[in-house]
Amino acid sequence: MCGIVGYIGTQAATEILLSGLEKLEYRGYDSAGIATIWEGKIDCVRAKGKLYNLRSKLEQLETPAPIGIGHTRWATHGKPEEYNAHPHMDSSKQVAVVQNGIIENYRELREKLKAEGCQFVSDTDTEVIPHLIAKLLKESPSPSVPFSPSPFLEAVLKAVKELEGAFALAVISADYPDELIVVRQQAPLVIGFGQGEFFCASDTPAIIGYTRAVLPLENGEIARLTPLGVEVYNFAGVRLKKHPRLLNLNPMIVEKQGFKHFMLKEIYEQPGVVRACLEAYLNNDWNAENSAESPIKLGLPRELYADLEQIQIVACGTSWHAALVGKYVLEQLAGIPTQVQYASEFRYAPSPLTANTLVIGVTQSGETADTLAALGMEKERRSGKEAKYQARLLGITNRPESSLGHMVSHMINTMAGIEVGVAATKTFVAQLIAFYALALDLAYLRESISHQRLQEIINGLRQIPRDIEANLESQERYIEHLVHDFAETTDFIFLGRGINFPIALEGALKLKEISYIHAEGYPAGEMKHGPIALLDAKVPVVAIAMPGSVYEKVLSNSQEAKARDSRLIGVTPANDGEAAEIFDNIIPVKVVEELLSPILTVIPLQLLAYHIAARRGLDVDQPRNLAKSVTVE
Ligand code: G6P
Repeated sequence: MCGIVGYIGTQAATEILLSGLEKLEYRGYDSAGIATIWEGKIDCVRAKGKLYNLRSKLEQLETPAPIGIGHTRWATHGKPEEYNAHPHMDSSKQVAVVQNGIIENYRELREKLKAEGCQFVSDTDTEVIPHLIAKLLKESPSPSVPFSPSPFLEAVLKAVKELEGAFALAVISADYPDELIVVRQQAPLVIGFGQGEFFCASDTPAIIGYTRAVLPLENGEIARLTPLGVEVYNFAGVRLKKHPRLLNLNPMIVEKQGFKHFMLKEIYEQPGVVRACLEAYLNNDWNAENSAESPIKLGLPRELYADLEQIQIVACGTSWHAALVGKYVLEQLAGIPTQVQYASEFRYAPSPLTANTLVIGVTQSGETADTLAALGMEKERRSGKEAKYQARLLGITNRPESSLGHMVSHMINTMAGIEVGVAATKTFVAQLIAFYALALDLAYLRESISHQRLQEIINGLRQIPRDIEANLESQERYIEHLVHDFAETTDFIFLGRGINFPIALEGALKLKEISYIHAEGYPAGEMKHGPIALLDAKVPVVAIAMPGSVYEKVLSNSQEAKARDSRLIGVTPANDGEAAEIFDNIIPVKVVEELLSPILTVIPLQLLAYHIAARRGLDVDQPRNLAKSVTVE
């Protein structure tokens, strides 16, 4: 987890590091710190909490140091206190390290180093690294890198070989003020190439303001950055020929544009996101009469789909909820049995291998460690098997340039633009559109639904951006008013059925994430098997009731909650007499066909969570304990 940056060149490093860390705060914001080298010594400044705390501390330390490393932390080992903040140093303060990831064998290393006299001052796994490197630097080097240019590189490489786990590192040493060593082992790290200056970071937004020439390191690579250039080696010490590539991204200037929070702005961006996805995925020339080609253009090769018998989806968090909607449409439209698994569970208990299976990893960031590991495992366990078992991997991501992009050969780009709010909103809706497109493409190829039906669904999809626009403002006004009643509420239940069950889960997750209110999403029909015991006048129930196959069922499940005195809020069309009688409040949603309704029903739930949290004065965009991209297991 966490974000790391580094700089070596001719400019003062501090501001470059801070502005890089600002772009990486989505990876964690429990504490931050930087270390620079000036006049033969390392200056290390760290602060608990958000980056602005570090920034104000640094105002007293103006240094022209042209080399440094920085870190923004999401606590794994040790509380989010200053003494656990990175960079970490060895006892003689000659080596400083920032790390993103987890050193799994840190306990053994720590005991060994302690026995050798090292003094530890933090509870982190990372602190073993500077101690280890400092120790190795003192020992007479026996080069493992042929023609080794630097004892510092040697020492870091030797230390890395003793580390187990998934990590990325940036390391500096006061004795080698012209060298910045960076390492990638299962955690992302990119190097940026400037004119006589070089950068490194966990993610491109941190360096794109300075250079567009980047080189993502691969796992098992170590690089030495000096003011003269960059050398890349593998862990065997063999120098590799690597060339940077040009990113065609503009510097990502992401502003709130008048909205109080990024999350609200991103909620309002959803009609545009759906339009962009449809523009990218739909074949405009297609109609039911002229149907020689698929109505969908995802650019996926037909061999990915050939003889498909099963789909296996792995994902985490909100992406997992999108995958559940995906399962519904893939099964109901394309008729393909589909399993959805939490990546973190799947990697330790994978389903038995099935033939002709498409494995889909859904991750907006493309960096979630569990999702990447689950996909990597599928690749591995299917390799060398007979053709029908071999890996067919597809990624659905908002960041095609991410680690996921390196891992899979086929991708659907969700086109949502950078999402800053930690709680996913527009990227979720974009993932839904990606799944609709995939299911329709497969349905067309497998002829599992008629062209007429395909046309109907596509027409409905094309109408969705306007439907969202028609709903948004009136829903927001209503919800802003409604949340006054929930100032003291401590529990919420969200109910949905069929294709809207995942939306109940997502509504509950949004509320938990940003308002810290306990919330549960449940299939409406299951409520009577347990959760109904929780209900009383203090526990509001939000029911998603959209006309379709389960509409009447959800209304009667809602009646059951009403009979237990719960305040009932319906996410449902406004003009239904029966619903008007049952619900205490109705957040009106335009009627669309049931299959497409999740795209519309999730938005009022995002708004509900947003306004409850904003009214409580909470940090909506950076909720406590969370991070947008979870790069540890
Ligand atoms: C974190 C975020 C969630 C997100 C999940 C999966 O927990 O806080 O909002 O849904 O990771 O992220 P991914 O990037 O894989 O979609």
